[in-house]
Amino acid sequence: MKEIKCTAQTRRSFCTQAATFALLGGTAAAAFSGCGGPTAPSDVPSLPSVSATRTSGVTALAIDTGSPLATVGSAARVVTSGGTFLVARTGQEVFVALAAICTHETCAITGFRSQTYVCPCHGSTFDLNGRVLGGPAPSPLRQYATQFTGGVLTITG
Ligand code: FES
Repeated sequence: MKEIKCTAQTRRSFCTQAATFALLGGTAAAAFSGCGGPTAPSDVPSLPSVSATRTSGVTALAIDTGSPLATVGSAARVVTSGGTFLVARTGQEVFVALAAICTHETCAITGFRSQTYVCPCHGSTFDLNGRVLGGPAPSPLRQYATQFTGGVLTITG
């Protein structure tokens, strides 16, 4: 019998095949039992999404009372033609913008619970400044410069 060395590549390949198996009628538990590593909690709420315009590397988003970012402590995914940001409002005039791509295996981060971003793929968690709180993500999320003037948030980068 041929021995297969377990690498990230073979594990990904296995998981892809297992997902196909599950779609074809196998049970999810049977299909994913060999994927290994932590799994994401299934009860994490999803962030709201808002669209914003992006021109020459600058994203602009009007924040009014109907915005998901209207109150301090809120967070949202800001979707632009050039990519998506995780944005948290940490003060009346203060916002923190992060790359929304997980540093583990590049999944889009969509979960948010208790002021913590949660990756849906393997459960990595990040604080509002992008620091890793729990792996397997190996490094923090990239942070972008923000400015809030006249009710308009700009994200540069
Ligand atoms: Fe694996 Fe985010 S891609 S934890």
